[in-house]
Amino acid sequence: MPCQMAYNLASMTVLVRSFAKINLGLRIGAVREDGFHELLTVYQTIGLHDVIRVNWSRGSGIEILCDDPRVPRDESNTCHLVVEKAMRALKGKGRVVIEIEKRLPVQGGMGGASSNAVATLLALERVMKKTLPAEERLRIAAEVGSDLPLFLVGGTVLGLGRGEQVYPLEDLPAMACVVVTPEVGVSTPKAFAEWDGRMADRIAGAFARPHTGTAKLTGQGASDRMVELGRGLSAWLSESYSGAPFRRGRAENPLLELVRAGIKNDFEQVVFPEYPELSEGKCALERAGAKYASLSGSGSTLYGLFASQEAARAAVTKLRRQGWTAQATVTLTRRKYWQKILVSSF
Ligand code: C5P
Repeated sequence: MPCQMAYNLASMTVLVRSFAKINLGLRIGAVREDGFHELLTVYQTIGLHDVIRVNWSRGSGIEILCDDPRVPRDESNTCHLVVEKAMRALKGKGRVVIEIEKRLPVQGGMGGASSNAVATLLALERVMKKTLPAEERLRIAAEVGSDLPLFLVGGTVLGLGRGEQVYPLEDLPAMACVVVTPEVGVSTPKAFAEWDGRMADRIAGAFARPHTGTAKLTGQGASDRMVELGRGLSAWLSESYSGAPFRRGRAENPLLELVRAGIKNDFEQVVFPEYPELSEGKCALERAGAKYASLSGSGSTLYGLFASQEAARAAVTKLRRQGWTAQATVTLTRRKYWQKILVSSF
């Protein structure tokens, strides 16, 4: 690790992996009274990760260490926010130093900052040998950001509300995945604002057209789109949970069945026109053999799901030759996610 902590004898350190997520489909709904958008998404944790080291010692204060200049080291850092809240909830005292080894892209749509915060929370509980009740952890996580709670579940996770209401879904088998990270920073609030503008234009357009019925008025409007993905997901889930006599069983790969259930990421509609490079990246993944390719969150990360690790590795070679920054990984089941979080404690 490039930056080193000064350890004192009376301190405890825990090293954890902070895994990334991708969105297997994301539908944006209406703007709520609190300004957030209603969301329906399926999160999936993947093997790429940052490394977080949390040290607890005598003294006071919270310090963030990170070599990456794009990561804030003040109170605005998600790890700082979480520790502040957790120390209060745990009635803990002492000095907490958090060292972030950044491997995931910053502002990349892979939930890096959110995952860092949750990993820090889990490491803090471990160093302090105290545990927060699950509801308390979820409350703290949701207060810090919409994308944090999913990392308290891991694996395949249904996200509702503003994305912070999370429900574990059937654990899908691991699947080979290629992640492409273009050097583009997409602002999530800006992408949501553009989505709102687009929706408003559509509704205005429908009003302007004569003899347009109410069905057409909402057209592919906010709630319709949510219902559509909801139906697809529901069909997909009932397939796996329904009774044995009629059950056909999962054909091929359940993850690909989910893809066929009609998952899409709404952000592509506003982000691709603004950053054509990202749309090209998705096409490049498809040409390289991806069974399904998509933008993750609001981007700029793109991912592709592949039939095998060999196919994913071959795609990475091909994509790199074309100039893309690409990495092969796997989707992480809930069990693997929790097995692999803790690296060491000393
Ligand atoms: O909660 P989080 O920090 O991830 O949200 C970042 C920003 O993204 C919010 O301030 C808001 O502008 C936007 N957002 C939204 N609807 C959501 C989630 C985020 O409008 N469901």
